[in-house]
Order: sequence, then structure tokens, then C-alpha cells
Amino acid sequence: MTYSKMEPVLAIYPGSFDPVTNGHLDLIGRGAKIFGRLTVAILRNTEKDHPLFSLTERTEMLREVTAPFSNVDVDCFHGLLVDYARERKAHVLLRGIRAVSDYEFELQMAMMNRKLEPGLETVFMLPAVEYSYLSSRLVREIARLGGSVSGLVPIAVERRLRAKVI
Ligand code: PNS
Repeated sequence: MTYSKMEPVLAIYPGSFDPVTNGHLDLIGRGAKIFGRLTVAILRNTEKDHPLFSLTERTEMLREVTAPFSNVDVDCFHGLLVDYARERKAHVLLRGIRAVSDYEFELQMAMMNRKLEPGLETVFMLPAVEYSYLSSRLVREIARLGGSVSGLVPIAVERRLRAKVI
């Protein structure tokens, strides 16, 4: 995907966001600073994935927490990420790397996406160190078992998690 240097760079930040965490939000803030436009693209999971939050709920939460960023929008996709990126005429895929343990899988995905669409660049960014141990999976588990997720997710998400697991 070639683009004119005058055109704002569109980056796609894909993920499951089940739910969005403060680590995701930190990365969105960093991405919004360096890319002209940033689309947070939620994967429409298959039925068998059993996400905790529906696509509608995940979209609502992401729209609420990204509202302060004027160049960020929220969308969803299914199928291959490169097909969605092509459709959106995106230039960059943004992914976060929290620790070395993320690197191997992220490298494999980035290389495969490059093979499928050589014109699309994957850019990795690092979240703040205090979020380096944070994941949506752990947040779901802590909430389900009655632990506190304060400081790990935005307040709006904390409220929804509490309502969900009661
Ligand atoms: O939040 P996650 O689970 O880390 O996000 C993973 C995601 C959505 C980026 C990845 O599963 C994905 O891109 N899925 C779409 C299907 C696809 O393109 N698969 C090939 C990847 S090389």
C-alpha cells in the first residue's frame, strides 16, 4: 500500500479487546501521537471463542474510552486482518509488545501478514512498564474470582465487569 507523503498515515490497532485495559489505552495514546489516524479494530470472534463481552459491548467501551482522542476511531472486522487493512487502505498495523514473551508470536504474525500483504508495515510499540504484566485474560479471571481490577482497566470497564460477574 503506497501513499503520498502528504496523506496522514492510517494505522490499525487490531485486537480482541475483551475488555479494553489500561495497557491498550496507553498504547492507543502513544499511537495517536505518531499516526495521523488510528483505527482500533475489534476482532469479531467466532461463536466458539465465547468472549465475555459482546462485540457491541466492546465497541461501546472502546468508543467511550477513546473519545478524548480526536484522530482515533473504533471499528470491527472479521476474516483476515490484511484484507480488512486493504479495504481500509491502511498503511500500518500497530501492535504492543509487553515483554520478550510476546515477541515470538508477534514476530510470527507480523511476518505472516507481510507475506500476505507486503505493502503493510507492522509497527511495535511498548506500553508503560506498569502495564507490562497486564492482559485482558487476567483481568477477566480476577473479576470473575472477585478480585479488584482497579487501576488495570478504565472506570467504565470496571463498572461493566462488576455488573457482568455478579
Ligand atoms: O487481542 P489479540 O488476541 O492479541 O489479537 C489478535 C489478532 C486479532 C490481532 C489476530 O488474531 C488477528 O489478526 N486475527 C485475524 C485473523 C488473521 O488475520 N489471522 C492471520 C494472522 S497472521
